[in-house]
Amino acid sequence: MFIKDLMNVLIIPYEYALDFFRALKWSKASPLCPKYKQLHYDILLLAHTVEKGLSISNPRPKFGVDKISKLLNYLEQYSSEWDSFPLEKSYGCLQSYVRWHKDRDIALEGFGLKIEKFLSRCEDLNIEPKGGVKEISNSSVQLNVEAERFLNSRFSCRRFLPGIVEDSILEKIAEIARRTPSQCNRQSGRIHYYSEPEDISKLLRLQGGAEGFRESVNNLFVISSEISAWSGFKARSQAYVDGALLAMQVLNACQALGLGACPLNLAVSNNRELDICKVGRISVGERLIVMIAFGLPEPIDLVVARSERMPIDKVIIKH
Ligand SMILES: Cc1cc2nc3c(=O)[nH]c(=O)nc-3n(C[C@H](O)[C@H](O)[C@H](O)COP(=O)(O)O)c2cc1C
Repeated sequence: MFIKDLMNVLIIPYEYALDFFRALKWSKASPLCPKYKQLHYDILLLAHTVEKGLSISNPRPKFGVDKISKLLNYLEQYSSEWDSFPLEKSYGCLQSYVRWHKDRDIALEGFGLKIEKFLSRCEDLNIEPKGGVKEISNSSVQLNVEAERFLNSRFSCRRFLPGIVEDSILEKIAEIARRTPSQCNRQSGRIHYYSEPEDISKLLRLQGGAEGFRESVNNLFVISSEISAWSGFKARSQAYVDGALLAMQVLNACQALGLGACPLNLAVSNNRELDICKVGRISVGERLIVMIAFGLPEPIDLVVARSERMPIDKVIIKH
C-alpha cells in the first residue's frame, strides 16, 4: 500500500511534464500550433474587444485603433477557405464599429478605409455579419420561479431506456450549449457525441466510473476544450474553466429537454486521455473535460443517489 501511495506521488511531476509538453505543442503562442488555429482564436479575441467596446455606456470615439489594426492584419492572413466564423464575426463587429462612428459623424479616415476594404472582402465572399451588439430589453432579466425550480431539480441519472436520442433533440442541446459563456467568447469547448455501442463501450471502459450502469448507456458526450484557444502561463487552466461551464450547460440542457444525464469524470492519466482521444477520434489538441452519459430516463419513480449538499453558509462565504 505504502509503495502504491508513494508511486502515486512520484508520478505527479511526470504527469505535469506531459501536460506541459502538450500545452507547449498546442498552445496558441506555440510555433508548432497550426497557423489556422492561431489565427482563428486571435481573430475571435480581437473582434470581441470591438463589440465589447461598443457595448459600454460611453465608448471613446476611435477606440481600439491598435487592436483593430492588429485584427485587420490577422484577417488578411486568414484564408477564406478556412472556417468562416472568424470572418463572419469580424465582419459584424467591424461593420457595427463603422456604423457607430458614421451615426456620430466621426471620420475614421485612412484607418476607416482599411476597415472598408475588409468589409468589401466579406461582401464579395457573400458571408453574413455575425458580431456587433444586440439589444436586450429589461424584461429579459426577470424573476423566473419556474427556472429556479428547474435549476434546483437537476439530478444525475444512471438508468436509461434503450434508444438513441433524435438529431432534433441533439440540435436543441447544441443550441442551448452555444449560449454558455466563455472567456472573451472564444468558445473553445467541443461536444463529441457517440451512439455506436462499440464506441460507447470502449470509451466508458477507459473512463471507468460508469460500472454498474455502463450497459444502459446508449448516448454519450465527451466534452473537450481546444488548447489552441489559450496562450501564456496565466491561462494554464482556462481550458478547463470554459469546458466545465459548457459541460454544466449541457447537463442542464439535457434535463430541460426531458433527458436524464450523468457527468462522468475524466480524472485520468495523460496516456489514458490520449487513448480516449484515439478511440473517440478527438484531436489531441483538445483537453478532455468530462464525459456525459445521457438518454431517456426510465419512466419510473427513479431512485437516485441523494448527494446531500453542504449547508448554504459553507458554500457562500460573505466577506
Ligand atoms: C466532474 C464530475 C465527474 C463525475 N464523475 C462521475 C462518475 O465517474 N461516475 C458517476 O456515477 N457519477 C459521477 N459524477 C456525478 C456526481 O456523483 C454527482 O454529480 C454528485 O453526486 C451530485 O449529485 P447530482 O448530480 O445528482 O446532483 C460526476 C460529477 C461531476 C461534476
